[in-house]
Amino acid sequence: MKQIKGLTIRLMREDDWASIIEVDRNITGKDRTPSWPQRASSHLRTYYPSLSFVAEVEGRVVGFILADIRGAEYALPLGGWIDSVGVDPEYQERGIGRKLIESCIEECHLKGIKARLMIKESDQHLQKFLVSIGFQRGEFTEFVKGFAG
Ligand SMILES: CC(C)(COP(=O)(O)OP(=O)(O)OC[C@H]1O[C@@H](n2cnc3c(N)ncnc32)[C@H](O)[C@@H]1OP(=O)(O)O)[C@@H](O)C(=O)NCCC(=O)NCCS
Repeated sequence: MKQIKGLTIRLMREDDWASIIEVDRNITGKDRTPSWPQRASSHLRTYYPSLSFVAEVEGRVVGFILADIRGAEYALPLGGWIDSVGVDPEYQERGIGRKLIESCIEECHLKGIKARLMIKESDQHLQKFLVSIGFQRGEFTEFVKGFAG
């Protein structure tokens, strides 16, 4: 794996939003719903300082992890829930995703909680990534029901 010179992982700041949205656009190839930037920035205002970090290479934001502390809703011990993690395609597979998640896990550890996230069962790429950095399956199974008429 190629290593990156000048890589810094730091806590996310409110003025990172434009860069984070750009990274997200580079990953997905589209703008998310108009509510995403608002949701993301209100997240930061609500939870700051939180478990959210950015990766910078020579001053440019190239990756992010957005997480907060939740759990009471599910009658579980509190956990550091990872909402999303993304690395600019130009910088993927160089250890940045791992470092972002490790920073979040370190913060969780200091707070005495575990890191958790939900992903699609069909997302093999993400499952491989998570297993390779040490995640194991948790205890949730989703149940869904539509209107039966
Ligand atoms: C998932 C993602 C964050 C990984 O970031 P990254 O910087 O490329 O990952 P890293 O280079 O840190 O890789 C960490 C480990 O995952 C493995 N990995 C990375 N990409 C992989 C792939 N495509 N398939 C299998 N394993 C992969 C690496 O081999 C590495 O394992 P190792 O340390 O044992 O060699 C990045 O691919 C991404 O932004 N994807 C799109 C957005 C997304 O799916 N986000 C998650 C949903 S919220």
